[in-house]
Amino acid sequence: MMEQKCLPEVSIFKCVKCTKTYSITSGHLGCLCGGLLEVNHDWTLFSLAEKLEHYKLHPSGVWRFKPLIHPEMPDKDIVTRGEGYTRLYSASRRILEFAGCNNLQFKHEGENPTGSFKDRGMTVGISEAKRLGIHTVVCASTGNTSASLAAYASYAGINATVILPKGKIAFGKLAQALAYGANVYTVEGIFDDAMQQVIDLAVKDGSYLLNSVNPWRIEGQKTIIFELLEKLNWESPDWIVVPAGNLGNTSAFGKALNEAYKLELITEIPRLAAVQAKGANPFVKLWKGGIFTPEPNPQTLATAINIGNPVSHSKALEALRFTKGVATSVTDQLILDSKAMIDRSGIGCEPASAATLAGIKKLVEEGIILPSEKVVAILTGHLLKDPQIVVDYHQNQLENIEAKYANRVKSYNN
Ligand code: F0G
Repeated sequence: MMEQKCLPEVSIFKCVKCTKTYSITSGHLGCLCGGLLEVNHDWTLFSLAEKLEHYKLHPSGVWRFKPLIHPEMPDKDIVTRGEGYTRLYSASRRILEFAGCNNLQFKHEGENPTGSFKDRGMTVGISEAKRLGIHTVVCASTGNTSASLAAYASYAGINATVILPKGKIAFGKLAQALAYGANVYTVEGIFDDAMQQVIDLAVKDGSYLLNSVNPWRIEGQKTIIFELLEKLNWESPDWIVVPAGNLGNTSAFGKALNEAYKLELITEIPRLAAVQAKGANPFVKLWKGGIFTPEPNPQTLATAINIGNPVSHSKALEALRFTKGVATSVTDQLILDSKAMIDRSGIGCEPASAATLAGIKKLVEEGIILPSEKVVAILTGHLLKDPQIVVDYHQNQLENIEAKYANRVKSYNN
């Protein structure tokens, strides 16, 4: 009989809580102990530099980093719409004055194919679903994940089901999920209720869960950081500021920075600032108090981050520890003022993305970010995701919000 040789696995799933490992083909998306899984790659098993060089010119800004995110993905299974390669913009003088800092840039993830950063994780998640021969993918969403899932699943010829909190999704995002042909369900309650339902659904009918508990989503989102650092010639900024909801992105950023440091791509570790809305800030409370308590009734006009029970809070906490980062929360008034600033400068973004600028202003005022420090804010979604709030703001029609920078529609009468 031939001796069966077991080849070492390049990528494995590892529990961040109990360190138990699983094969990436095991079908597990969470550990039996209840902990979150992450992907670990053994980069000693191949020549990383050679492989990175090989993929350097890939038309996808995600898959050009394939050796760092999913080295074993067969090229034939990659489902891509050319995501990534998003631009870096310098803040206008007016924004610098507003924020109180001198060196601020925005990386605009709203420039991805479906208008948000979610496409970076989704191209990896859907490619993995294709590789595994999955028929149906599912997610819960505050809007952007469902838009991205719907698009990439359709493009790959896979069925998509999304569960959304009823009446709490910005119109552009709901329109996308419908248009791309997903089965769209709503539930009473908030995102966290939809999340619970979708986990139950995935367990019940075996469909493939593509929320950010799926570790492949995190691998794709790491490329925001790799692309940014590469653009900065691998010279780290002092701060990277990100809006925080379900905390997938904060976790992905921490993992990317950890790996970039260990691989000696960078010598300094930027500090992460995770910014939540005041009415939906369980992670800030965890970071300050050390105890995680879900917020049962989160309330913010930035619907993308209206989340009370973020699934990735333990990974995100580790990301802040590793980067000596901070978590902070900002009012809806400050988010919308900041959004008006970003929009007016010709860049534009959706409300949740503007939490970054709001957070920077607050952290500068508190002396945590120094005015001279180099700051990069991640704008996570496109302005047109939520047109309603823009029009309402500029007509000063939002409850409890003073539209300080309103650009009113005027009637043209002589
Ligand atoms: N910004 C935007 C525009 C988002 O859509 C989200 C999350 C976040 C920030 C927060 O990122 O969850 O990784 O901390 N949207 C998810 C969704 C929850 O369903 O679209 P996070």
